[in-house]
Amino acid sequence: MGAESEPAREIGKFFQLFSLLFSRFFLVFGRRDGKIPSWPVVIFRLDGFMALYLSDNDVIDRVLAHIKNGTTDRGETVWQEPVENYVRQDRLDKERALFRRFPTAACPSAAIRNHGDYITYAAAGTPLIITRGKDGIARGFKNACRHRGTKIAKDHGCVGAFVCPYHGWSYGLDGALLGVPHEDGFPELDKSKLGLAEVTVIEKGGLVYVVQEDGIENPESLLDGLPEFFTDEQEMFAKADGIVESNWKLFLESFIEGYHIKPAHGKTFYPFGYDNLNVIEMCGAHSRITYPFRRIEKLADVPADKRDATGSLSYLYQMFPNVIISQLTHHTTLGILEPMDTDRTKFTTYSMTHTRGQADKKSALENARRDREFVSQTGQEEDIDLVEASQQALRSGANTHFTFGHFEPCIVHFHQQMARFI
Ligand code: FES
Ligand SMILES: [Fe+2]
Repeated sequence: MGAESEPAREIGKFFQLFSLLFSRFFLVFGRRDGKIPSWPVVIFRLDGFMALYLSDNDVIDRVLAHIKNGTTDRGETVWQEPVENYVRQDRLDKERALFRRFPTAACPSAAIRNHGDYITYAAAGTPLIITRGKDGIARGFKNACRHRGTKIAKDHGCVGAFVCPYHGWSYGLDGALLGVPHEDGFPELDKSKLGLAEVTVIEKGGLVYVVQEDGIENPESLLDGLPEFFTDEQEMFAKADGIVESNWKLFLESFIEGYHIKPAHGKTFYPFGYDNLNVIEMCGAHSRITYPFRRIEKLADVPADKRDATGSLSYLYQMFPNVIISQLTHHTTLGILEPMDTDRTKFTTYSMTHTRGQADKKSALENARRDREFVSQTGQEEDIDLVEASQQALRSGANTHFTFGHFEPCIVHFHQQMARFI
């Protein structure tokens, strides 16, 4: 992958071999306690795939070469995924357990910009609160009162402290139990031991991630190589959630291949794009797929240092396991796929403006809104119809396996990582 020089290719091959040997070592001598050391991922990053993504200019060059040659990036592996992995409850239980060990995005930093801002959501079935303390630090807690367990916060907002709606116990932004009404009813109560149950929060690249459970050494290293997704300049202009009536993986797969663009989006995305033409990159367990627009051809005659990729391509990052980031012309959307059941997925999106290079923030906002409306009312609806139709036939027995070919390498990579970590 990538327009690599000869020495870089040689180094890549060396690491590929090195990685292969090491991963075999890991398979044979891996830990027996079920915990996953993070180093195989780090090594995998060197595994022929570059850890850092190509520059816009290199992506443009690669797309232009594909247009000229009638080619696209191809994966090496054809993958067969058992259909039972989309329908079985015990498989979903294992996937949720994996979600709890991995750093998974909760929201953009902008969703909790100020002290006391909070959001609530469920991750792998666990109700969580993400909030920013008076010290500016983002923290995460299980959204469960330490008295009798009800949720202490709803939706989102800004508070000085959380007060449980049931009997009024109150908690600070750092999770400490502050007050208990009629405290003499609990003579043995040690308030210092009854703070909210905390989960690990990592704030990086404009995103807040949560790690709910131990099991991976240095989980932050799984985010190595990911770009700075959001800066303070970008404004969060929309949040939405909805239910897709399909297994979360069927829905995820629809984002990360361009093989379906012409047949599935013939009147919406395809007129602006290409049939089966993508650039594919892997970064650890994650991947990025580039969807070029036809306007990119105008850049063929523009010198490299004068090119601007805006409007000529969009990037779709898949952050393993259940998050996507879609960078379009005028906005970027973070999308979180939360399995509600084997056949239902909650899809939560946060949309951010692009203000880079746009002095006029009002027009940046208008452009972002228009951009988002176009995507959500056209191509996304088409994808949802298709994946829900796949779901309806999932238990029909028509397929024992799904086959992902050379033009679906991000999906193959995703399933390889699932198989590796689950
Ligand atoms: S359950 Fe929260 S105060 Fe009783
Ligand atoms: Fe699609």
